[in-house]
Amino acid sequence: MPAYLIVRESLTIDFDAKLTLMLRVGCLMNILVIGSGGREHALAWQCAKDENVKNIYVAPGNAGTALESKCQNVVLASADSDDNEHSPVIEFCQNNAIDMVIVGPEAPLVTGIIDACRKANIKAWGPTAYCAQLEGSKTFAKEFMEQNQIPTAAYQGFTDAAAAKSYIDEQGAPIVIKADGLAAGKGVIVAETIEQAHAAIDDMLADNKFGDAGSRVVIEQFLQGEEASFICMIDGENILPMATSQDHKRAFEGDTGPNTGGMGAYSPAPVVTQEVHDKVIAQVIQPVVDAMKEAGHPYTGFLYAGLMIDKAGDPYVIEFNCRFGDPETQPILMRLQSSMVDLVAQGLAGQLPSEAKWDTRPALGIVVASKGYPETSSKGDVIAGLPELDTQDSVKVFHAGTAFSDSDDAVDNEKEVITNGGRVLCVTALADSISDAQQAALAVTGAISFDGAQYRRDIGHHAIARENA
Ligand code: AMP
Ligand code: GLY
Repeated sequence: MPAYLIVRESLTIDFDAKLTLMLRVGCLMNILVIGSGGREHALAWQCAKDENVKNIYVAPGNAGTALESKCQNVVLASADSDDNEHSPVIEFCQNNAIDMVIVGPEAPLVTGIIDACRKANIKAWGPTAYCAQLEGSKTFAKEFMEQNQIPTAAYQGFTDAAAAKSYIDEQGAPIVIKADGLAAGKGVIVAETIEQAHAAIDDMLADNKFGDAGSRVVIEQFLQGEEASFICMIDGENILPMATSQDHKRAFEGDTGPNTGGMGAYSPAPVVTQEVHDKVIAQVIQPVVDAMKEAGHPYTGFLYAGLMIDKAGDPYVIEFNCRFGDPETQPILMRLQSSMVDLVAQGLAGQLPSEAKWDTRPALGIVVASKGYPETSSKGDVIAGLPELDTQDSVKVFHAGTAFSDSDDAVDNEKEVITNGGRVLCVTALADSISDAQQAALAVTGAISFDGAQYRRDIGHHAIARENA
């Protein structure tokens, strides 16, 4: 049923719901998506499918969002002071009749972009700065989980290297060391030995490798099991679970090498059975909603719980993110058959439904990263073999670290697409099984090339092993 009918049938139509109704029946909408990654390309692509959407601006976007239908990239000048950090966004929304802002990455959420938009009466989807501390500070998240009996690894926080090392000696290895602040998924060391753990402490506390993000560390018990990403939309009260997914964080095949932002993902994650799903809602998501409401800061926006599911099917929270996952968004949104715009409008109106509509077929995305990722980043390499946009319904190449070569005289779609560092593309396929989706994504990935391109050929291996069992 379309959103406006749900609204029309409700007896108590509040202001936000009326806005939703107006948006659905009448005017065409303008949307601003903040961010430049594969997640934002997928969000913009999903929103563009909605016939009630006129323009999607992506700030700053990438080559993929520049080429997507209804989409254009915008550069929002940085503000002149920290206090006005979000004023370029506010001004842009006011000058361009933006009906809805969707914020992709964590950094602007942590610094209060949602608070700033609300103050200016702009509809923006995401958590407030208070709630975003769940991602912005590992210490906040751990204390929050402890206070609300949310299952997670035992931990202690340290600022002093000697004290941290003697705690490690007591606990033994394997053990996990995390920089306290935001470190783009890279401030986590899973140390196999005491020596590696000590070296991580030296890096973070003594050598200050992660800057302010690492001036405090959290040391955690090593959890065993299978990981899953559990992402929901929350409107302060109601919970709408997204399809489940699993991400591959390590750089190399066989889940080896350094942690990255994610080298590929697929949806659904078979490890999340209905029973596990129910436990995650009851033991993890509902307590967050209840505790934030109780604290006077209702949680709104996407909430991502990175979970370890143990052999008994019990979930433990590895981390919270206050946003959609990247690259999880790409396969999840390939499967979404409801309108993302409807869902966000309903979320902004405090009227999230309890279920969305999903393609029953699985989807799998393979990240193609630039040379040296995650330690270093290479830019400016020409990308060859990109398929035309939307040539097939079942495969989509989402862009992340891409840009155009600067031959200004060429029209957009004749410009060369070049790498812009980090994770460059996420080739995502829908198919009847996860192994078919992997093969379909690999076939398209294999035809794409740029200097130093690296990707994993084993994305989805846990699920494929289950399919073959
Ligand atoms: P995080 O940034 O906290 O999600 O950590 C990145 C990755 O490190 C996770 O996806 C896990 O693979 C691993 N990890 C983090 N914490 C733990 C833990 N306590 N036990 C085992 N693995 C962990
Ligand atoms: N893929 C992991 C994340 O988005 O944090």
